[in-house]
Amino acid sequence: MENAGQPVLKVRNLRTGFATPAGTVVAVDNVSFDLHRNDVLAIIGESGSGKTVTALSLIKLISTPPGRYLGGSIEVEGTDILQLDEAAMESVRGRQIGMIFQNPRASLDPSFTIEFQLIETLMHHDPSLTRAAALDVATRSLQEVGFPDTARVLASYPHQLSGGMCQRIGLAMVLACDPKLLIADEPTTALDVGVQAKILLLLKKRSRETGLPIIIITHDMGVVRAIATRVLVMYGGHVQEEGEVDDVLSSPRHPYTQALIRSIPDPDQAIEEISFIKGEPPNLLSPPKGCRFAPRCDRAVALCHATVPEWRGIGEGRMVRCHLAETGAAQ
Ligand SMILES: Nc1ncnc2c1ncn2[C@@H]1O[C@H](COP(=O)(O)OP(=O)(O)OP(=O)(O)O)[C@@H](O)[C@H]1O
Ligand SMILES: [Mg+2]
Repeated sequence: MENAGQPVLKVRNLRTGFATPAGTVVAVDNVSFDLHRNDVLAIIGESGSGKTVTALSLIKLISTPPGRYLGGSIEVEGTDILQLDEAAMESVRGRQIGMIFQNPRASLDPSFTIEFQLIETLMHHDPSLTRAAALDVATRSLQEVGFPDTARVLASYPHQLSGGMCQRIGLAMVLACDPKLLIADEPTTALDVGVQAKILLLLKKRSRETGLPIIIITHDMGVVRAIATRVLVMYGGHVQEEGEVDDVLSSPRHPYTQALIRSIPDPDQAIEEISFIKGEPPNLLSPPKGCRFAPRCDRAVALCHATVPEWRGIGEGRMVRCHLAETGAAQ
């Protein structure tokens, strides 16, 4: 792993929230992590844990009300993008950071054909490209994400294509712009198994060959195992654990990570035997006073209910937010 040198992305104590009539929802709370070249970081966690808000925060899409940055920094190649104005951010998005949205249609405009949108994006990204050259790049990029019949796709409007097809077009558009960092929010959820494998292989190849650092948000441990080098586990807006993928999956130190891994159904398991994490995720308007997971944790002691655990290192490349990580109680 080529992890030496400065991280491409350095996130420190990031806090973002939403103003609601009932108060501020802090959806991302004191999140810190680094991303180096060649890293493929999988962000996992139950629904509502703050994965998408983290991703949107990283490309500064939380700035419009009710969204608000509450603190921290996001350094991309040494520049804190939270200090940039919207005009400067326009060139960071796409050029430096490519984003695949969880909603596959979010990056496409319903009123234009795919050909028009791909060509406009590519020519905006590289003004020296002719229309013919941009069409050529677009065609090759569509083939890369698994479209044999590119003519039909290019002539279509987004509503004429399935969610999975739009997702792949979004990916083709982003990869063709050659970003320095790729963020993909559940990029394979809408895809069938064959296309999913092809996309994962494409991302893995891109990361290996060019060092492209990738953040991939997923609910699928198969995806984590197939592509990730590191894993970051979110719960209730906090990062609870982070480390090398094999370490975290084989010896999770946080009871939440352990419960999450236990709750992944085995393909042979009957539906009645699947283990669910008991209880409900926290209400972020009034989160628990101590560890966010304490109310659902069967190992919690008084300290866990009273004090938020610090985000701390527990060995080579391993971080955790749990009072019990070293005592053996959380093994
Ligand atoms: N516009 C908003 N206004 C108020 N609260 C919001 C808004 N967007 C997100 N939230 C809250 O932020 C929290 C985190 O949401 P987020 O979309 O990041 O979850 P997620 O981990 O991506 O879940 P999923 O796996 O379902 O995609 C949730 O509690 C959600 O209700
Ligand atoms: Mg999400």
